[in-house]
Amino acid sequence: MRHRLGVLISGRGSNLQSIVGSIARGELAATVAVVISNRPEAAGLLRAREAGLPTVCLRPKDYEGRDAYDGALAEALTEAQVDLVCLAGFMRLVGPRLLDAFPDRILNIHPSLLPAFPGLDAQRQALEHGVRVTGATVHLVNGELDGGPIVAQAAVPVLPADTVESLSARILIEEHRLYPSAIAALLGGGWHIEGRRFITGAAPAGRT
Ligand code: GRF
Repeated sequence: MRHRLGVLISGRGSNLQSIVGSIARGELAATVAVVISNRPEAAGLLRAREAGLPTVCLRPKDYEGRDAYDGALAEALTEAQVDLVCLAGFMRLVGPRLLDAFPDRILNIHPSLLPAFPGLDAQRQALEHGVRVTGATVHLVNGELDGGPIVAQAAVPVLPADTVESLSARILIEEHRLYPSAIAALLGGGWHIEGRRFITGAAPAGRT
């Protein structure tokens, strides 16, 4: 069975592109059922249209508040019969209405080794903090900013001559590898959550 992905974007959509590439190469048994952007000018939306993917643009200003907006997102995703929602550079916090519609079925990718440097400009935060290693994290989305259980991480060295741009580019290479493989792991099943931990393998006896 091919799982149906809903990919939410706000910008250039290179992670969307990497997911589409993995599907095309047969590395990810899924189909992109819908691409949703909150910004009509997102370059990723154009790329998605050119690739022949179904796209929807939902502008927050057309809705009264987060709950109404998240309700519209949930409706569009449900209509597209999505199994898993992948946030890929979607620059909005997800509220309870969407979380409740897809419990443990929303993933995000963040350009740092969480819990270090959540929020905006993670690469700049890492550079300014002076860490020697940063990276990328794919995590399940909960109500906290970049706070849900961690599914996969990749480490990236920070080099002495790095700028925000060079570091971001090095992290992005890892993001493009990490996200499709984390999606495949999630879709493959055989995992459960214990506290904050995403654990692969069967749940202990007596637990579901
Ligand atoms: C990526 O760095 C991702 O980790 C972050 O936003 C950026 C999106 O890039 N959440 P793109 O739109 O996928 O190219």
